[in-house]
Amino acid sequence: MVYTEPAYAKLNLTLDILSKRPDGYHDLRMVMQSIDLADEVAVSPREEAGCRVTADLPYLPRDGSNIAAKAAARFFETSGVSPAGLDIGIRKRIPVCAGMAGGSSDGAAVLRILRRIYAPEMPDGKLEEAGAAVGSDVPYCIRGGTALAEDRGERLTPLPPIPPCWLVVCKPPCSISTPELFAQVQVKKLRCHPDTSGMLDALKQQDLEGIAHRVYNVFEDVLPRRYAEVFSIKSDLLGLGAMAASMTGSGPAVFGIFREQESAAQAAEALSAQYPVVRLCHPVQAFSENFL
Ligand code: C5P
Repeated sequence: MVYTEPAYAKLNLTLDILSKRPDGYHDLRMVMQSIDLADEVAVSPREEAGCRVTADLPYLPRDGSNIAAKAAARFFETSGVSPAGLDIGIRKRIPVCAGMAGGSSDGAAVLRILRRIYAPEMPDGKLEEAGAAVGSDVPYCIRGGTALAEDRGERLTPLPPIPPCWLVVCKPPCSISTPELFAQVQVKKLRCHPDTSGMLDALKQQDLEGIAHRVYNVFEDVLPRRYAEVFSIKSDLLGLGAMAASMTGSGPAVFGIFREQESAAQAAEALSAQYPVVRLCHPVQAFSENFL
């Protein structure tokens, strides 16, 4: 039997860093949004013990170091279910190392599938706790939709969905290390912070203009010069009619928000002439039935 789940990518409508914590992580305040760009995750229980991961990208790890395998191990530890042998297959559609939670989302999909198979009574909170031990974004990826993520990113508050719009995502060919980018941040020296409460109000009012006006990611403030492409994609998107444009997570993917399909499609086409990874997407609402 094969069990499948889509693993949706996320974008950060806002990303704020509030402080460095004694455990080395940072306290964050982020408004997260799932989009309809998804990896396909398939899990098949098997006789043989252990967990084998296969993916259609040859450089992804196949052993226990893959986040999908870590999620499986953590599921069995947390649930008390005796570990089963598993084959996990991943079809990557989310750009890798882009700031779109591709790995976290695969881990989250594995957790959702294993709960379905082995522990349907497991409460959401416990599944998210297992997710938080695997990665800071995993709890959010378990539930998806529009949400405020705080503390390490694992404390979640569901938010009203973003009004219908089009999102153009473009990833430059560089990649940015998340821990290295966090290491660049001196919280007191950050020049601007997003207006997160204004963003929450705009979501409540379903005011797309107000939402677009408040899109902001503090990482852009500390981005080393060698990632200048991020800023040129942002200005391209704005020049092509985006209501707002921002880097997502620790980058380097950049997204633009468009009200109309036509202008979004034109922008995606124009950027495709210059960049290999460009996607035209929609927002997705919370997708796990347990979290609705
Ligand atoms: O939790 P996760 O493994 O996804 O985090 C990757 C890295 O990002 C951490 O090792 C840490 O350097 C940084 N991080 C942080 N504060 C957070 C989340 C991540 O400093 N809230």
